[in-house]
Amino acid sequence: MLILGIDTSCDDTAAAVVEDGRKIVSNVVSSQSDIHTKYGGIVPELASRRHIEMILPVVEEALRQAAVTISDLGAVAVCHGPGLIGSLLVGCSFAKAVCYSRNIPLVAVNHLEGHLLSPFLDAHAPDFPFLSLIVSGGHTSLYIAEDYGTYTLLGKTRDDAAGEAYDKISKLLGLGYPGGPLIDRLAQEGDPKAIAFPRAYLPETYDFSFSGLKTAVRNYLMSASQIIEESAGKRDSGSPPGKASKLADEHLRDIAASFQAAVTDVLVRKTKWAAKKKKIGRITLSGGVSANRVLREKMKKMAEELQAEVFIPPVSLCTDNAAMIAAAGFHRFLKREFAGPDLNPRAYLSL
Ligand code: KG4
Ligand code: ZN
Repeated sequence: MLILGIDTSCDDTAAAVVEDGRKIVSNVVSSQSDIHTKYGGIVPELASRRHIEMILPVVEEALRQAAVTISDLGAVAVCHGPGLIGSLLVGCSFAKAVCYSRNIPLVAVNHLEGHLLSPFLDAHAPDFPFLSLIVSGGHTSLYIAEDYGTYTLLGKTRDDAAGEAYDKISKLLGLGYPGGPLIDRLAQEGDPKAIAFPRAYLPETYDFSFSGLKTAVRNYLMSASQIIEESAGKRDSGSPPGKASKLADEHLRDIAASFQAAVTDVLVRKTKWAAKKKKIGRITLSGGVSANRVLREKMKKMAEELQAEVFIPPVSLCTDNAAMIAAAGFHRFLKREFAGPDLNPRAYLSL
């Protein structure tokens, strides 16, 4: 059975056609980073407007690439939260209109369930139960997945999500948005041991915290810029410190690599602790930050040490996409969990 998935939860307009929850027939993502990058983050109003412009062409393109028409679809699955309310509204309204006018079942999908089930779109897919680390721009959470639809939250971030920390540090370094891929690239040529940024390993909890690390990087940047400016005689010690742009490229690369080392160390160590504590031999990694080169490597190495199996989707399925929404929607469809025309998006929605 073919399901059309739609996701407009954040700054990507996405539509995909997936067969039986596993096989991607088409997967189209229209990124908005060009309009948000100059603001250093997402501007919600601009995001909603771009979704309105893009939703129809993106859905049409997904159907065209799949060589199907709406009549071939068994259902439409749409992400109804969590996310930016104005953005979610576009996808939900569109999906409701299609389903109502063509008399097709509508399924509402939690964005986090989409990320959690995204490893099933890969040939190397896990069996239940598994430990799932979801790391994205809005979430950093550890779940135990017992079955489709049965998830237990073990812990989550108490402040910033890992992706949010990447995006904020990128802004401080003057790199742009989204920060994850930019820092990932810059860090490749830097020394991850150059600066010993703090790692918050909160004891005896599955929770995370990244705000201390963000503050440590900010403080480091302030004092480094100050030293450079003072030694160049450009300012006296009483005036405010300058921007990261004053730092040499080599120095920026080391900061990026050292920050990345701290984030990934914490994510991997906590996941290892959880896997041991829960005696679970299958680990999945998903969400935008799981596209990160170093995180993927460290997670694989850790799983090897534990003799656990690790499942990480290909990079194109780590960041937001609608194939994961169609995959999760398929299992809700099998349970006949349909949504009606009264479906409302929810900015805050737990899994
Ligand atoms: O899952 P996602 O596309 O959207 C949300 O649900 O939030 O995740 C986006 C986040 C952003 O914070 C972005 O900076 C981060 O994922 N990201 C990365 C990488 N690619 C995307 N973070 C680290 N390394 C990457 N290569
Ligand atoms: Zn996401």
